[in-house]
Amino acid sequence: MRLNKYIASAGICSRRKADELIAAGNVKVNGAAMREMGYDVKEGDRVEVNGTPIMPEQKKIYIAVNKPYGYVTTMKDEKDRLTVADLVTDIPERLFPVGRLDYNTTGLLLMTNDGDLAYRLTHPKHEVYKTYVAVVSGVISDARLAKLRRGVDIGGFVTSPAKVKVLRQNPRSAVVEISIHEGKNRQVRKMFNAVGNRVMELERISIGDIRLGHMQRGHYRKLTRQEIEYLKSL
Ligand code: URA
Repeated sequence: MRLNKYIASAGICSRRKADELIAAGNVKVNGAAMREMGYDVKEGDRVEVNGTPIMPEQKKIYIAVNKPYGYVTTMKDEKDRLTVADLVTDIPERLFPVGRLDYNTTGLLLMTNDGDLAYRLTHPKHEVYKTYVAVVSGVISDARLAKLRRGVDIGGFVTSPAKVKVLRQNPRSAVVEISIHEGKNRQVRKMFNAVGNRVMELERISIGDIRLGHMQRGHYRKLTRQEIEYLKSL
């Protein structure tokens, strides 16, 4: 197995992060620094990350969290804010989030110690649609809808066509369902800004076929076997 995949599948980190650790010289194979991410790990090789020997396989855990407002989707925060790690304190395995949600975005976040799967799911070439419900200011006119559906410039990047549906138009705000398969930073907020609406609330309700369902904010559940198989098949 390739060295970066081996580290990721041991649940140490994502494959992308493993590449960085390898490039930085923090990974040793049989006592010597190894900077080739494609090195083929052989039976009996001793791999160390930052001086700690790692075991190849670990029990894999996959959970869906309903992230509340005011949590960051990292496992530690330098500003001491609450993190999603604070929501899953009763799972001893070290999990990390698959992708990210903004501090003030709520809803579905997947977490796992399967770094390889996490890598594949967040890779731009994987076109997994993520669906959000946004409460936005003002009126969502047909022209604005058409722009969002076509793709908008969010500052040097033109988004791919989105699926957009107005769920409710109030006098001064609207509730809109939007599905995108890209994951640019603050993408949904920027897309609405680009057409003249401000996002006031944002919740992610699904990632591909995985749905948030009726889980309470701050709670989590283990994914079902079918859901795990589905994610692996993507
Ligand atoms: N788009 C955003 O703007 N924020 C999120 O948290 C997720 C998608």
